[in-house]
Amino acid sequence: MKTNEVLENIKARRSVRAYTDRQVSEEDLQAILEAATFAPSGMHLETWHFTAIQNADKLSELNERIKGAFAKSDEPKLQERGHSKTYCCYYHAPTLVIVSNEPTQWWAGMDCACAIENMFLAAHSLGIGSCWINQLGTTCDDPEVRELITSLGVPKDHKVYGCVALGYADPKISMREKAVKAGTVTVVR
Ligand SMILES: Cc1cc2nc3c(=O)[nH]c(=O)nc-3n(C[C@H](O)[C@H](O)[C@H](O)COP(=O)(O)O)c2cc1C
Repeated sequence: MKTNEVLENIKARRSVRAYTDRQVSEEDLQAILEAATFAPSGMHLETWHFTAIQNADKLSELNERIKGAFAKSDEPKLQERGHSKTYCCYYHAPTLVIVSNEPTQWWAGMDCACAIENMFLAAHSLGIGSCWINQLGTTCDDPEVRELITSLGVPKDHKVYGCVALGYADPKISMREKAVKAGTVTVVR
């Protein structure tokens, strides 16, 4: 199989769900955010917004409000998370980037997904772990959650399509080798 540095970076990236306390430096964060802004977007509208949070108290408050929204749900699994003392949707990562967009175009979420993958790959190339965090997608319109994310800088008319946890992988947690499903590719010549 043909390979190069970019292809190796793509194949070696994994979702990291246990982080050390070490914060991502300003220089690295800026490089990762810049990679996000270079992603393709439908009609090059770039209506997205990236809200990066590196304040542990604010992240903890965000988690509490997401839990509050879950606690109001009819779904038992979400209720359980909402009442859990230990549940942390962002795995205590030191940095979280909220990726939001105007919901006016049907591809708004796709623009965000392209930017998110760019951030994952940029982070991995810098030795920084990452993970997609989805819980704000379903809770961003809960009034308590919305109040907080607005105060953090998420535009009022935006929907959250995903978040990116960033930090250094806890070396004590070993990563299982990735198994890639067979039969998902068709080539027609
Ligand atoms: C749309 C989407 C939503 C995801 N949401 C979460 C999430 O909320 N929490 C989480 O731990 N992982 C989440 N993931 C990560 C996937 O579980 C992960 O990519 C998958 O298990 C493959 O593992 P890998 O990323 O290590 O290759 C999400 C991934 C995608 C693409």
